[in-house]
Amino acid sequence: MNASVTPSTVVPDADLYLPRMARILEILPMSAREKFLRLELPAPLGHRPGQFVMLSCLGIGEAPISISCGPRTDNILEVVIRDAGSLTHHIHGLKPGQYLGVRGPFGSGFDLEAWSGQHLLCVVGGLGLAPMRSLIQPVLANLESFSGFTLISGCRTPAEELYREEVRGWEQLAQGNSKVRVIRLVDRTDNQPWDGRVGLVTAPLHTLEMDPANTVVAMCGPPVMYKFVILELKARGLGDAQIHVDLERRMKCGVGKCGHCQINHVYCCQEGPVFRFDRIAHLAEALQ
Ligand SMILES: Cc1cc2nc3c(=O)[nH]c(=O)nc-3n(C[C@H](O)[C@H](O)[C@H](O)COP(=O)(O)OP(=O)(O)OC[C@H]3O[C@@H](n4cnc5c(N)ncnc54)[C@H](O)[C@@H]3O)c2cc1C
Ligand code: FES
Repeated sequence: MNASVTPSTVVPDADLYLPRMARILEILPMSAREKFLRLELPAPLGHRPGQFVMLSCLGIGEAPISISCGPRTDNILEVVIRDAGSLTHHIHGLKPGQYLGVRGPFGSGFDLEAWSGQHLLCVVGGLGLAPMRSLIQPVLANLESFSGFTLISGCRTPAEELYREEVRGWEQLAQGNSKVRVIRLVDRTDNQPWDGRVGLVTAPLHTLEMDPANTVVAMCGPPVMYKFVILELKARGLGDAQIHVDLERRMKCGVGKCGHCQINHVYCCQEGPVFRFDRIAHLAEALQ
């Protein structure tokens, strides 16, 4: 150790613990419970798809929130916030021009380079479209790197659908490009207008045309959805190492210090939130 540096004078990497202040450029309702926020950071975030940030408001608190935009070179960060409690409710009441604290990016994210040449199947449930969009955007911008792309996206009712216009744009792209497929589902229509399918995200998997040997799967949604989707994928011949799941756990520090996010001995904030399924399939608490 350098003689001038004793343990008591070691300053931790300020980026880990010190929020940067981000200005709200846009805050728009997406559904009854979710709002979309576009934030301007002091510098580019430099994230990978599937990573998360810790968002904070002074005097209220801090929470892990998925990054919802693909990697970008400007200072913009996009997130979707569900009104779930004290902090998220407070954020829903903020206006453009006000500020939020941002730490991160944290976590593993999706390893897009490792999937080059394969068919990417994304299975999404509800709010899972927020993190999955950070993957879909760069994939659609670099389709030549993949043999194909399929999105199966479900939510409970038409009123809960997120990124409506953008998903329809992806659907239009699919109409002119045989490498792209987009399947939208709701559990029930609740008598609202709906131009997609009705059913669970597992239903299309029975008959989906796919080459199991050349397919990689990314999933974002509730753990109960993962259990049933994984059963279907295995029935179609896919192995655990081809399946990637985004797991949410209670988090406090986001940097491997507090233990709040542990799945058995695995720290979700550092190794996750994206895991290749063979890494966690044997852990009893993984899909709870
Ligand atoms: C990696 C990761 C990414 C996330 N991404 C998003 C996102 O993109 N958008 C979004 O809206 N939310 C996301 N969440 C969930 C979000 O962090 C919680 O909803 C938030 O912490 C609630 O904070 P609060 O102060 O508003 O609510 P609190 O007052 O702390 O809690 C309100 C309710 O939410 C429950 N809760 C708290 N944390 C979680 C959690 N991690 N999972 C499930 N329930 C929880 C509490 O038990 C309580 O019932 C993510 C969580 C993780 C771990
Ligand atoms: S959130 Fe603190 S160790 Fe993971």
